[in-house]
Amino acid sequence: MISPESEIRGPAQRAVQRLERLVRETGRSEGLEPSGIRVAIAPGRVNLLGGHTDYNEGYVLPVAVDRFVSCAVAVDDSGTIEFHSLDFDDRFTLELARLSNLRGDREEFEQLAGGRQSRWRRYVAGVILEMDEAAVPLASGLVAIAGDVPVGSGLSSSAALEAAIYTAFGTGVQATPEAALLCQRAENRWAGVPCGIMDQFASLLAEQGKALFLDCRRLTYKNVSLPGQSAITVVDSGVRRELADGRYSRRRHEIETALEILRKVAGPIKSLRDLSPGDLAGMEDLLPHTLRKRVEHVVGAIERVPKGVAHLALGEVERFGQLITECHHSLARLYEVSIPELDIIVESALEVDGVFGARLTGAGFGGCCVIFHREGCEEELESAVTEAFEAGFGSGLSFHHLHAASGARLLSEAEISEISESSGS
Ligand code: GLA
Repeated sequence: MISPESEIRGPAQRAVQRLERLVRETGRSEGLEPSGIRVAIAPGRVNLLGGHTDYNEGYVLPVAVDRFVSCAVAVDDSGTIEFHSLDFDDRFTLELARLSNLRGDREEFEQLAGGRQSRWRRYVAGVILEMDEAAVPLASGLVAIAGDVPVGSGLSSSAALEAAIYTAFGTGVQATPEAALLCQRAENRWAGVPCGIMDQFASLLAEQGKALFLDCRRLTYKNVSLPGQSAITVVDSGVRRELADGRYSRRRHEIETALEILRKVAGPIKSLRDLSPGDLAGMEDLLPHTLRKRVEHVVGAIERVPKGVAHLALGEVERFGQLITECHHSLARLYEVSIPELDIIVESALEVDGVFGARLTGAGFGGCCVIFHREGCEEELESAVTEAFEAGFGSGLSFHHLHAASGARLLSEAEISEISESSGS
């Protein structure tokens, strides 16, 4: 399960290469010392247990994976930060002296980041604005950003982008739960996505070879080892969705409505974390059918996480895998965030010998499934899933064999010069 360090090279190398070209072309940062270049990388994530449980103050068990967003900065004293995205072929500039104005003027912010094609700007500017508000000293300079986390696929490219920006600009600032909260705030406030805390937390605080067991109410966490011989395959359905498209918010709204009803009878319930499946038994008739299903999913999904962590500790990998699959079935049948493409991937994967469990990852409505399996059955898995998928939906699948990566970090000077030399510039 250990990620080959070479995996970080793709995005970091592309970002550094572009940055060096920009420095040459613009003449900005002339005479820049190698130490004036900072390069951060931050991973995407899959979630093994928990699903829509983070914003219910429950537990989650994500794993950061070796797909990264990299942010390379050439620091200067210009007073402006010029961001270049290689993947979106777009750029924009922020003036440090005007950040507080920008925070206060939504119209100006919308002008800067409002276009559909420039959504990435919202995440980047959002983190910078939040860092400025939190009085983190910010450097100016040229910035190049590149990534290989597929966008809109449930692997959390947005949190990886936020974490990469935070890490590149907050030099010396350790990744902390507060940093995750800051990045989440950036996404809630500036990208308009009411996401929970799981993705930012995983991208910043995960450890290599481990899953992150997070209590989203207390923000306490523990990185737990994944069994040797186990492996993660991500199957991308090719169906894209955006968290900002409204379906995610609708689920959050349904939960709020359910809580209002439940509070009238059951008293002060702060969140669904306060209920156990046993409590629900007496409350079934209070809720309309759809809301009852939503609540049942969340309460069950929260309970499965510590159970799964206990199975992991005992090396009971099959039982752990069963919980992963149960989570998928609950997300599909009760929370109704799956689609037929994802269901077929899960069901066909489960037929393969060596597969412990399978589920959709992220918010659902499209994107990827994560398959947790014994090392060595990758080939069989690919052919079984491809055959079943193609019979129903034609081509379009892609497979990624991923490793549990560590959270965001700055590359060392040695790593940067190695990348820079091997890129031939
Ligand atoms: C998205 C959100 C997370 C979480 C998941 C569902 O990834 O960003 O906060 O709610 O969906 O588990």
